[in-house]
Amino acid sequence: MAVSVSTKMEGKKAKFKGKKLRVAIIGCGGIAQAHMKAYKNIPEVEIVAGVDILQERLDGMHENWGIPKNALFKDWNVMLKKIKPDAVDVCTPNGVHCAPVVDACNFGCHAMVEKPMAMTPAECEKMIAAAKKKNVKLSVGFQQRYRDNSKALLQARDEGRFGNIMFVKCQALRRRGIPNWGVFGQKDLQGGGPMIDIGVHILEAAWDFMGSPKPVAASGNCWTYIGNKEEKTKVRSSWPNWDYKTYTVEDLAIGQIRFDNGAILQIESSFAAHIGQNDIMNFTAMGTEGGCSWEDAVIYTDMHDSMFNMTPAYIPGVDWTEMFTRKLQNWVDGCLKGTPLRASGEIGLGVQKMLDGIYRSAEAGKEVVIK
Ligand SMILES: NC(=O)c1ccc[n+]([C@@H]2O[C@H](COP(=O)([O-])OP(=O)(O)OC[C@H]3O[C@@H](n4cnc5c(N)ncnc54)[C@H](O)[C@@H]3O)[C@@H](O)[C@H]2O)c1
Repeated sequence: MAVSVSTKMEGKKAKFKGKKLRVAIIGCGGIAQAHMKAYKNIPEVEIVAGVDILQERLDGMHENWGIPKNALFKDWNVMLKKIKPDAVDVCTPNGVHCAPVVDACNFGCHAMVEKPMAMTPAECEKMIAAAKKKNVKLSVGFQQRYRDNSKALLQARDEGRFGNIMFVKCQALRRRGIPNWGVFGQKDLQGGGPMIDIGVHILEAAWDFMGSPKPVAASGNCWTYIGNKEEKTKVRSSWPNWDYKTYTVEDLAIGQIRFDNGAILQIESSFAAHIGQNDIMNFTAMGTEGGCSWEDAVIYTDMHDSMFNMTPAYIPGVDWTEMFTRKLQNWVDGCLKGTPLRASGEIGLGVQKMLDGIYRSAEAGKEVVIK
């Protein structure tokens, strides 16, 4: 029944002979395909089952990845009982993160869950408690911290090149990029729009860069002015003809987080906004000794009585399979060898508290406390 996605791999890594981690995929849509590709690079993993409510997605798992038909299920609890995997990789919409993770942890399975960790901090806490109770490894699918630009800047930070990091400005902006697939426009199923969906990426990377200080207050606002309008679906867009009728999330969200060390993070996130460029994903940071721009890993510093911009001669660009391989490998190593997780449940909770704080502040119309 078990299928190894690594059987065709050649080279040293493919010769892994130890106990494999038997992983079941829950939610076999778009991002699950990226995970399946990445697992090809992780010979310690055997994909043993797939779960999805849509038959065509299950058919795809059989046709594209060779998962046997009798290892494909519509209900994760039935799968857990029949297959008894060691671990689950949850790639369902945000509103279906908490339940499968809690059920799988209660079953004694390790869990990887895609970003954002869940809909609310309370859901994250439930997931962390379930993992702790059964002593299993819970990791969140944050991949930006594994990028080479992040790695370079983290090294520079650890060498003290930035001094005290006082301010970070984050942007995850699309000029016209409302997803036209899945449930990304439905607040009850996703928890929010661009802030929770793409703002989360730059937020996790920036917070990691800052050393994950404790967030204590949030202020922000959200606006919807394009996604719910039929006529706007006719304007040229990255993904045209989204479902404006079910669109209940924000187009634009702006937030500010205050940390217990006095640092401030600001974040701008949009699916649709009147800006000069599509697809901006970056943060810039200001420290007492230096600053930086994340995307290109440029460091601003003072040397030889002058101001210097230090630009790397070469930093690899975005390689999705490589980033996903790194994030999944970190979790797999945690499960098999007990090595530390770079994006633990607690890190997922911290990010969720900031997202939740911005949304709560938008509702309340004033700054809110983050506990
Ligand atoms: N890390 C990243 O860069 C990244 C990128 C895109 C999406 N994501 C995250 O991945 C998750 C899924 O996004 P996607 O783009 O793959 O969406 P998708 O709609 O393509 O896939 C989700 C799948 O989950 C299935 N599903 C829904 N409810 C289910 C249930 N109760 N039981 C089993 N299966 C169920 C759907 O049928 C669908 O096949 C989201 O949380 C999203 O935020 C992460």
